Amino acid sequence: MLIQMKKASDVLSSEITRKSFYMNRRKFIQAAGAVSGAALFPSIAPPAFAASAKLENVQKSQWGGSLQPTSLESIMSHNNFYEFGTGKSDPKENAHTLKPKPWTVEIAGHAKNTGRFNFEDLVKPHQLEERIYRMRCVEAWSMVIPWVGIPLASLIKKAEPTGNAKYVAFETLVDPKQMPGQRGRSLKWPYVEGLRMDEAMNPLTIMAVGIYGEELPNQNGAPLRLVVPWKYGFKGIKSIVKITFTEKEPPSTWNKQAPQEYGFYSNVNPDVNHRRWSQARERPITGEGGLAALFAKKIDTLKFNGYAEEVAHLYQGMDLKKFF
Ligand code: MTE
Repeated sequence: MLIQMKKASDVLSSEITRKSFYMNRRKFIQAAGAVSGAALFPSIAPPAFAASAKLENVQKSQWGGSLQPTSLESIMSHNNFYEFGTGKSDPKENAHTLKPKPWTVEIAGHAKNTGRFNFEDLVKPHQLEERIYRMRCVEAWSMVIPWVGIPLASLIKKAEPTGNAKYVAFETLVDPKQMPGQRGRSLKWPYVEGLRMDEAMNPLTIMAVGIYGEELPNQNGAPLRLVVPWKYGFKGIKSIVKITFTEKEPPSTWNKQAPQEYGFYSNVNPDVNHRRWSQARERPITGEGGLAALFAKKIDTLKFNGYAEEVAHLYQGMDLKKFF
């Protein structure tokens, strides 16, 4: 994020494809594989684009039905996931080495039900809902993503945190064999993030396990990642293996890396510029295709990314220039 920053306008037009095109291409690949053996098509089916599993019975939700989602191909091709490299296309190229199944998550700290849990015990299929959220990156580009997930609040309730739990801390897997970027020192590992308990319990906050009705692609943080739509994208920690209830504010990776540039709260705020660039506007990556995406007009960034009604009350009385 700090290094090798590409502008949204650097996204190749060939990357911007509608989902229908992507799905048809995948059907073609599957059909071809069934007839002649998938090994015949290695070059058109890179591992990160391998067919993922459809999530059944996903409930629609009240969030985002009217928003036009970004194309799946853009969502899967323009990523930040330093465990697989610092370039935007590195995660797509390299994330096939991640093994999201089987997966366990440790729950620790101030809660009654701590321990190590299988993914399947934490995320039940009947709970899954679609949430189409605007997502705003601190690098001043944005996407609309049709996530599938569960409210983080439901998972927290099962853990039964005690009165001492004021914050929730999250950690990503550390395994340099699966995550080649961890062999270098682009960041301190594990990637960590945190939320205040009331932010974590807010109905907008979800643990995402899918996109466009299918399991999360590895490069987007399989098998489960945090999504907090009123905060900059870097709060959305990926491939989580540990959740800890803490009394004190937990560390967050970008805040540790550059405290003058990234605060703990990281709420989308057009009035508080990043040290080195403005946050007043953003370039939407819409997935409208080709030139439309390349030359997408910048739009004004909204306070709390447009979710002020749902979350502004969480910060009443706080000076958001100080707690940025
Ligand atoms: N989580 C981990 N573990 N490692 C990362 O490098 N990058 C963050 C966040 N979560 C990151 C991470 C940043 S900077 C952003 S903008 C979002 O993931 C990007 O999510 P996306 O690639 O699914 O759009």
